[in-house]
Amino acid sequence: MRRKLLVGNWKMNKLNSEAKEFAIASVPFAALAKKNNIDIGVCPTYLSLATVKEFASKDMIVGAQNCHFKESGAFTGEISIPMLKELGIDWCLIGHSERRTYDNETNEKCNLKIKALIANDMVPLYCVGETLAEFEAGDTKKVVGAQVREGLADLTSEQVKDLVVAYEPVWSIGTGKNASSQIAQDICSFIRETLRDMFGDVADGIRILYGGSVKPVNVKEYLSCPDVDGALVGGASLKIDSFEELVRNIL
Ligand code: PGA
Repeated sequence: MRRKLLVGNWKMNKLNSEAKEFAIASVPFAALAKKNNIDIGVCPTYLSLATVKEFASKDMIVGAQNCHFKESGAFTGEISIPMLKELGIDWCLIGHSERRTYDNETNEKCNLKIKALIANDMVPLYCVGETLAEFEAGDTKKVVGAQVREGLADLTSEQVKDLVVAYEPVWSIGTGKNASSQIAQDICSFIRETLRDMFGDVADGIRILYGGSVKPVNVKEYLSCPDVDGALVGGASLKIDSFEELVRNIL
């Protein structure tokens, strides 16, 4: 049985003081989520990770939005996995489409980061998804299939069992043009079959999320799809009331 999972991706939003306010206000509904067997989490900016970790409930997953695959060295502006671990951070987004678009995050680079995270007992939340042009050309499965196969290359079924995959069609991110629940189910099911082909039955335990203009009004519809185990939410995760409504709507 896969536990439902709701993760907020704050992107480059929230001052540290605002992140602290959110963390404190989230404590009661983190308890509510736990009581209902739902995992919830947020991915603040690097600068707010320690604050959110300190003030949020221990039941709130706190993840980074990126990491470097090397332990240390001459990589100006980067953050390493041991630095995250020292703060008690054990989740990390990898391959978000904004990083693929603006920071040249390739499947190969994602693969290096995912391997490094797993070697450090951290949970990668690996994001995949096609652009509008790829969607319109009917290439979704080709693109997403390659992202899954190349991003998770050279890993064993034991290594991927706790990993989470998020399907986020690029054309639906931040646009208000969310994919239909049929598209979400179809591609999440395709991702699970790809995982099964690569790793066998462990695929049945891997959580797959949908992301892209998820709001309190549509979250339940996605989570009622058999292969959609949760949601990765940007804009609607920023306000505490909206995040709480997302949780309440999937109880
Ligand atoms: P959105 O972002 O919910 O604002 O569309 C989703 C994401 O980028 O993870």
